[in-house]
Amino acid sequence: MREEHIAIMIVDDNITNLKICKSVLGGKYDVFTAPSAQKMFELLEYNRPSLILLDINMPEMNGYEAIKLLKKAPSFQNIPVIFLTGNSDSASELEGFNLGAVDYITKPFSPALLHKRVEVHLLMEVQKKKLEIQNETLEAQQGELRNFNDNLKQMVAEKSQAVLELQNAILKTVADLVECRDDITGGHIERTQRILGILLEELTKMDFYREQMEAWDMDLLLQSSQLHDVGKIVISDRILLKPGSLDVEEFNEMKKHTTFGVMVIEKIEASAAACDFLAYAKIFAGTHHEKWDGSGYPQGLAGEAIPLQGRIMAIADVYDALTSARPYKRAFSHTQAMEIILSGKGTHFDPLLIEVFEKIAGRFTLPPARCPA
Ligand SMILES: [Fe+2]
Repeated sequence: MREEHIAIMIVDDNITNLKICKSVLGGKYDVFTAPSAQKMFELLEYNRPSLILLDINMPEMNGYEAIKLLKKAPSFQNIPVIFLTGNSDSASELEGFNLGAVDYITKPFSPALLHKRVEVHLLMEVQKKKLEIQNETLEAQQGELRNFNDNLKQMVAEKSQAVLELQNAILKTVADLVECRDDITGGHIERTQRILGILLEELTKMDFYREQMEAWDMDLLLQSSQLHDVGKIVISDRILLKPGSLDVEEFNEMKKHTTFGVMVIEKIEASAAACDFLAYAKIFAGTHHEKWDGSGYPQGLAGEAIPLQGRIMAIADVYDALTSARPYKRAFSHTQAMEIILSGKGTHFDPLLIEVFEKIAGRFTLPPARCPA
């Protein structure tokens, strides 16, 4: 059956050979003939064959020189070339393959075999093109998939950011509500968060707690620190707003804001998925009044049994309490607060953390806390 749209170019300086080849292949393919390599290049400007049958021994430009030029030209380099030649020695054949020919047929040839080999190479070419199209399609699909994934990541990142902002806004509101009840400590939450941030920043440069801190999400940690006194929400106004020192019974009641805080956060955890944010918040609420020597509350934990977050928060919390005015005490100066905190090294506070505190406490000097009229 005739292959209407498959063109084959035969290049040979021997006109008889050209005629024989054309008669063998012309019944099935569109055959173009060129009596020289130069003529072949002229014809290639207008006809792009699916296959070239190329003689080697030709005057002016031989087949080897011609294939070299073909393989250099981007427009022609993919046209398969079969050498059709009288050179039957293996060195010539090897040279032909080395220069990029797909086959090497020696003259005289069997018409049936020539036909078959041309057919095989054209079929391989068709398969190769199909494969290239499949690869291009696959690459295009992969590109689309990558774009889809990128868009999805972007959407997830935006949603996550929105959730984070909402979480922070709700949290800030809860923290403000607690602080509103306990107005005498106005600004305490914001200031302790800031002091905590300075301590954490410095601590990340140190070696001693690096391993533990590397696992922390610092943004979440700082946000969650705002809930450290959330348990005060269940402390009665009589105690919370008492304009003077608390007696033993009242102080014991006040101490419960730590365990209440943990309970409040556990209640949130029960109706939401557990997350680092709530885990951090629970640690802050439950351990910021523990002391290094075990004399703190609510559990009386000592040393490294107190979570590191709680040990850091203890310093920020006490520094702010000391430098803030309360109805029952004046605000201590930065220097006085420093002296008191340094004297608690190894008793109230983690000694390693106090070394860091001492080094950077100058950065804590914040505006004095407001005191209600
Ligand atoms: Fe507290």
